Amino acid sequence: MAILRIPEQRTTITDADGVRAYLERAQIEYERLPPDPAVPADAPADALLAAYHGTIDALKARGGYVTADVIDVRPDTPGLEGMLAKFSAEHWHDEDEVRLIVEGRGLFHIHPADGPVFALEVEAGDLIRVPKGTHHWFDLCGDRRIRAIRLFQDPSGWTPHYTGSGVDRGFQPVCFGPSYIAPAAPPARA
Ligand SMILES: [Fe+2]
Repeated sequence: MAILRIPEQRTTITDADGVRAYLERAQIEYERLPPDPAVPADAPADALLAAYHGTIDALKARGGYVTADVIDVRPDTPGLEGMLAKFSAEHWHDEDEVRLIVEGRGLFHIHPADGPVFALEVEAGDLIRVPKGTHHWFDLCGDRRIRAIRLFQDPSGWTPHYTGSGVDRGFQPVCFGPSYIAPAAPPARA
């Protein structure tokens, strides 16, 4: 289940209904699709796409997506730093950003036109649709692992338009997933 934080309001939402309601107001579609036990998360990409074809076809029919692929990022992925730098600067797309997470975790920051920036930490089983034109950026969590099915309306795939605003630099890409260890509280003063 995704975790949603609004740093400006010092608010964290962890209950499913609360996360859904907040995302709905921000026009971000969110669904939980528990992983298919018949296909391991580390199955070859073709097998994964075949296993999820029902979900993929339904999404294609609804959103006009024409292609689907699998993005697979690990700590030892060649060129990882360059790849992450492309994701982690504020940008938008001419098409929706649709991701079904099948393994690992990641952190979307969404910058709505009429509200504060919020962070959405996604994990396996989370399906997110960020509408075209929405300003956002993305970081991996500390374990630097994510595997996700992506859908595209443009067959040429992922094309970002960078805002160059620098807003992204004001937000720490801190995940709160299972491996998060809270910073130690400062010692109490006598
Ligand atoms: Fe994006």
